[in-house]
Amino acid sequence: MDLTSTQKRFLNEWMDFLKIPSVSADPEFKNDVKTAAEWVKNALQKAGCLKTEIIKTPGHPIVYGEYLIDSSLPTVLVYGHYDVQPPDPVELWDSPPFEPIVKATEIHPDGAVFARGACDDKGQVFMHIKALEVMLNEGELDCNIKFMIEGEEEVGSDNLEEFVKNNKEKLNCDIILISDTGMISKTQPSISTGLRGLSYMEVTVTGPNRDLHSGLYGGSVANPINILCDMIAKLHDKDRKVTIPGFYDRVEELSQEDRNEMAKAPFDLEEFKSSIGINAVQGEAGYNNEERRTIRPTLDVNGIWGGYIGEGAKTVIASKAHAKISMRLVPDQEWNEISDLFSNYFTSLAPEGVKVEVLKHHGGYAYVTPTDTIGYQAAHKAYNDTFGIAPIPSRGGGSIPIVPMFEKELGVKSILMGFGLDSDAIHSPNEHYGLFNFFKGIETIPRFYHHYIALLRQQ
Ligand code: BES
Ligand code: MN
Ligand code: MN
Repeated sequence: MDLTSTQKRFLNEWMDFLKIPSVSADPEFKNDVKTAAEWVKNALQKAGCLKTEIIKTPGHPIVYGEYLIDSSLPTVLVYGHYDVQPPDPVELWDSPPFEPIVKATEIHPDGAVFARGACDDKGQVFMHIKALEVMLNEGELDCNIKFMIEGEEEVGSDNLEEFVKNNKEKLNCDIILISDTGMISKTQPSISTGLRGLSYMEVTVTGPNRDLHSGLYGGSVANPINILCDMIAKLHDKDRKVTIPGFYDRVEELSQEDRNEMAKAPFDLEEFKSSIGINAVQGEAGYNNEERRTIRPTLDVNGIWGGYIGEGAKTVIASKAHAKISMRLVPDQEWNEISDLFSNYFTSLAPEGVKVEVLKHHGGYAYVTPTDTIGYQAAHKAYNDTFGIAPIPSRGGGSIPIVPMFEKELGVKSILMGFGLDSDAIHSPNEHYGLFNFFKGIETIPRFYHHYIALLRQQ
């Protein structure tokens, strides 16, 4: 790909952004997160925003920017996040996570930028900032734009939720535009029509009051790690359904017609398996692979620890065992209710001789958006313009809990124009984002504004 001088400048600016290690989860990076917020504010200003500000919160700051032309024109609110996931395990990266480099891959022969946050979500946020710059330079912006770029998405957006509730007037808009999801492939764009909800738990099983010699005590006391494994095993049945009573009570079952529609999306199971190095898929009986990872709820252990995990062998019965467990939720599951159901059921699985504690972390609702709205149609036309092929609607498996919150608090739908690929390794070592995707995004976003305004005028 031969880059124009403008494209080279955009790429260099984006790489500067990626050098800031804005890891929201780790207090050690608090200052870097602040630096990234300032970087975004500055970038918004340079792109042409007439007003920009950094809003402090009890956690990481929110960056706000606006380009308001006329209150009689429609307003688009762009949301995204400048915080990133921790880069761990750092030793599995081929290049340092905060020293971005461009490398070609099989899927990205034109090159991709490798760095934590390249795709999720700094690269995709930056596309919107550059799209504003392009639109202003070409004099083609015909509506008001507001930007709200937060620094706590990867840790649950708690403070953003407060901010949204208290600033409805400021955030008043007609549609919310977000690039923080993916698309099917570089040749088959798609628009996300849904996100899953989330309920995140942490459990601790405590046995004896201290770590014990496993020879002296083994066989006569409940081993918390063994017990924790037993309890976790009971959370699924042989059909890999979640056994928590009431878990599926509110789950919306899709009609066969909807499922047939979903099945039309191109999908290659062999390629899916080989892309992640497995020889078989596994999941809930009665549903295909794509349904299992989008329209069905799940329960997964994210981490499990306890006892001796150092070099060599140590014979010990640990006093405590821990696990972090998340459930992905679908409409119309209530995440608070699911957290309670989990808590009650998990506690009930404990045998005598151990104590169980359950801690509730963050959660969020699932989200779905219809395809017959002006916002969706505008996105459809935009992708069609730049990819030369109609995008298909696609339910996503990930979560962005603030999106359903926007709908509840502001009464506004979000359009999820994602340009990432599943192979971009978001949250994993060697995260990257294709130059093709990045520049296509910058090209497609202005088309969205164009069609959105045109469709509203036709109404
Ligand atoms: N951008 C992702 C969510 C995503 C990615 C949705 C790809 C659809 C396709 C977001 O940054 C994220 O990672 N969300 C978290 C939830 C959050 C509460 C930590 C997730 O899905 O695990
Ligand atoms: Mn994200
Ligand atoms: Mn993420």
